[in-house]
Amino acid sequence: MKQLHKKLDAFWEEKIQEHCRSKCSKGGHFLDFLISFTASTTPEAERLSLDDIKGALMDLFAAGTDTTSVAVEWAMSEVLNNKDVLKKAQEELEQVVSNTSMVQESHLHRLKYLQAIVKESLRLHPPSPLLGAREALESCEIGGYMIPKGTRLIVNEWCLGRDESVWERPTDFLPERFLQTQMDVRGQNFELIPFGGGRCICMGLPLALCNVQLSLANLLHCFDWQLPTHQALDMLDKFAGITLPKATPLLVMPTPRLPKEFYSREFTQGELI
Ligand code: HEM
Repeated sequence: MKQLHKKLDAFWEEKIQEHCRSKCSKGGHFLDFLISFTASTTPEAERLSLDDIKGALMDLFAAGTDTTSVAVEWAMSEVLNNKDVLKKAQEELEQVVSNTSMVQESHLHRLKYLQAIVKESLRLHPPSPLLGAREALESCEIGGYMIPKGTRLIVNEWCLGRDESVWERPTDFLPERFLQTQMDVRGQNFELIPFGGGRCICMGLPLALCNVQLSLANLLHCFDWQLPTHQALDMLDKFAGITLPKATPLLVMPTPRLPKEFYSREFTQGELI
């Protein structure tokens, strides 16, 4: 841990210095905002040290990297295991985006079925299944349970998403369940809180949703996919400390669907990625 800490500390130091030296830093970058709080003109109580900035960057990268890739991998796996879902998603993409363009952020609000796929995948596979731990500052009562002051409280979002008193056919992957409802993942519907809720809700939520939807949309729009065997994918998970990735990584064969100029390299038939 000590060795890794030194390595990581040097990495952040270099990135911050590199950013300060870079001519493209014109004040609009998040890092510029943080650095502006190191100035001696900032009131002492609000002033940030270099270590504070490194800590903030560390938090963002730790909280935002694995969670996002785990979410995309699960959604891809569910779609590939459910061929009718794949077909509907690709039809929607063809209608909204057309085959002469990649998916842009501006298309996302019209991709209702794709949004439903992402919600349904987050329901079954919340990347951060125990959210963030809470501690009761005061004794209180929740749902008839007495919670004494100082109690550590851990929310099992994985179970909430599969609760049969809330969800019909809870273990089936059915994006359609979200088409006729306003239910969302933004912390207002307590049946579905993969980003948590309240004051500690994930601060990267808008970025995360956009990244997951956009990555998944482009994977489905730009390629046809085949599994290496005719068997259904292994959907077992394996807890990795904070996140819950697949126990066996997804391996699939892509075939390009768009004109050649959209790809930076060629894909050979049967290539596994
Ligand atoms: C699909 C992707 C993501 C998922 C599922 C996710 C989920 C979560 C969850 C469950 C929490 C705890 C919320 C709570 O306890 O109520 C959290 C906190 C947090 N997330 Fe995310 N997150 C994702 C992506 C991101 C990204 C992209 C960033 C930033 C770039 C980010 C930054 C954070 C931070 C800083 C916190 C701590 C917030 C606090 O304690 O005040 N997350 N996230």
